[in-house]
Amino acid sequence: MKFKILPALLCTLCFTMISFLSLAQANFKPQKELLFTIKKNFTDADAQYKVLAKQIGPDEFPKTYHPDVNKQENSNSGWWCSGFYPGSLLYLYQENKDQQLLTEANRIMGVLAKEQFNTHTHDLGFMMYCSFGNANKIGPKPEYRQILVNSAKSLSTRFNPAVGCIKSWDSKPGDYLVIIDNLMNLELLFWATRETGDSSYYKIAVTHANTTMKNHYRPDYSSYHVINYDAQTGAVKEKKTAQGFANESAWARGQSWGLYGYTVLYRETHDKKYLDQAQNIAHFILTNPNLPADKIPYWDYNATNIPNALKDASAAAVMASALLELCRYSDAKKGQEYFNVAQIILKTLSAPRYKAAAGTNGGFILQHSVGHFPAGTEIDVPLSYADYYFIEAMKRYQAFDKKK
Ligand code: GLY
Repeated sequence: MKFKILPALLCTLCFTMISFLSLAQANFKPQKELLFTIKKNFTDADAQYKVLAKQIGPDEFPKTYHPDVNKQENSNSGWWCSGFYPGSLLYLYQENKDQQLLTEANRIMGVLAKEQFNTHTHDLGFMMYCSFGNANKIGPKPEYRQILVNSAKSLSTRFNPAVGCIKSWDSKPGDYLVIIDNLMNLELLFWATRETGDSSYYKIAVTHANTTMKNHYRPDYSSYHVINYDAQTGAVKEKKTAQGFANESAWARGQSWGLYGYTVLYRETHDKKYLDQAQNIAHFILTNPNLPADKIPYWDYNATNIPNALKDASAAAVMASALLELCRYSDAKKGQEYFNVAQIILKTLSAPRYKAAAGTNGGFILQHSVGHFPAGTEIDVPLSYADYYFIEAMKRYQAFDKKK
């Protein structure tokens, strides 16, 4: 009997060791020079956001700036991007401990708070988790918690069990439109289940993610932008785009939202199918012949006029942040590749082509993003979410520095 158990034990031990070694993470070593650049970026961003703060009225949120006509464009709190400005201020406050930025973040969150009851948008994750979610991490408060729970409740009202998705856009009767971006709003729901013990938020999040995995993704792991469902049966009626070049194209920011979204799904559930999905999306992006050497994607991977098409810094910033999390969950080879690409993106975005000179660019940090090309809006301009995910990616990169 002993003779049989010993080899079996040895086999198991070997298998465990081999598995462990193949899954072992690379020893990600941040570059000193880039760490230094990032430190300077944070100091510069602090000053830029004081410029940005002067461009908005008391109830306004920075949206973009049009450099050709030197015109600022702001929004109200209902615009899907309203959480990014306070979110960036809070991230910068964490880095620089500049009280003025914290005061501004608190002021603008006071304006934003009413959106907790907004049931007409799927963007509550972006709006409330990037702002109040971060505020609650920095300094938890019962009022932040309540706002976040109410936001999760509001978001959940948009879930239809027959479809298995949260509705993204309200449109004409008979349409049930779900966009790939919606994955980004699920983190709020995971938080809500952890916080309240109510598993319904978690169930909505994983159901939405599973339905999206089934219907939004093509065999090559590129994603459609919009799926139109039959609200009664859940059948797919249309697969199309809104912000991309064509129905069958790969809109760059959509690919980044998916990459980020499934990375969060894996973090929150530890379900390997989401890790596989995130890595397959990464494979599509990183092996795409139209991804330039500087790793800043064109606004659509299938735009017709590549290499003369516009680049989208926002898609790159979201991608960098996602890769700097995904590399932690990946084996050494893949992890190192993700880390290296994120590093290239951070270097590219830190150079003058993308990082605006002090006092310019309406106070935004990054230039050259594309919001909605087909609609002719926000083209080759700064965008609040490009800044937010750039800051987040820099923070994530710094975190690999053991000394931090
Ligand atoms: N619809 C959100 C975005 O433009 O990415």
